[in-house]
Amino acid sequence: MRMRKVKWAVEYLPESKVLVKDPSSCKGKWKKRLGTSTLHVEIGCGKGKYSLDMAAMTPEAGFVAIEKNESAAGIAAKKMDDDPREKKLALIEGDADHLSEWFAAGEIDVIHLNFSDPWPKKRYAKRRLSAPSFLKQYIDVLAANGQVIMKTDNASLFEFSVPQFLANGFRLLELSVDYRRETHDEDAITEYEEKFIEQGNPIYRAVFEKETI
Ligand SMILES: C[S@@+](CC[C@H](N)C(=O)[O-])C[C@H]1O[C@@H](n2cnc3c(N)ncnc32)[C@H](O)[C@@H]1O
Repeated sequence: MRMRKVKWAVEYLPESKVLVKDPSSCKGKWKKRLGTSTLHVEIGCGKGKYSLDMAAMTPEAGFVAIEKNESAAGIAAKKMDDDPREKKLALIEGDADHLSEWFAAGEIDVIHLNFSDPWPKKRYAKRRLSAPSFLKQYIDVLAANGQVIMKTDNASLFEFSVPQFLANGFRLLELSVDYRRETHDEDAITEYEEKFIEQGNPIYRAVFEKETI
């Protein structure tokens, strides 16, 4: 579902401290910029809760949150700027299509895909963040043994995604079809996840590792 324009958020975005306006200029330098040796990237961060909470829970790790919707990015930016907790966090407003322009080969340790848009119609399958064109970019920017961690409530998207990863240079490390059946205090709950947990829907989760040759 498309988000309605949120005027204050769109106006706030260019003023944000956490926003990186020219992400290509950070290519190959993200770890240095954030002062970390471990780089996590969340694609499609929505209103930003996951990256913000994870960055605060693991202050030694660096997080870059990417969001293409201007209103959602503006809301995330305000939330991140206002949060007083110690963290190494940056925000990119843009389409993850450009991942290889923003990150150098092998620069990212972990990519997070949280409740990505399912794009159920076949003609839009290329827009799924687990479509082969995205997976090829992930392979490029991930470090050796780098990981993609995917969470979704959508069984069809999960069924589509698992074989795509396996056919495109990843191996499966972990798989759960009811991840929140157990407590996972180490993993923050996203805005969408909160809603699905409340509705009693199971959360699917998989961890994929880049295969080394
Ligand atoms: C269903 S929402 C989930 C938001 C958040 N991850 C959560 O779990 O609460 C998916 C988000 O991904 C963003 N998105 C989808 N495709 C994207 C892309 N190619 N690049 C960047 N963001 C994308 C959408 O704009 C939307 O805000």
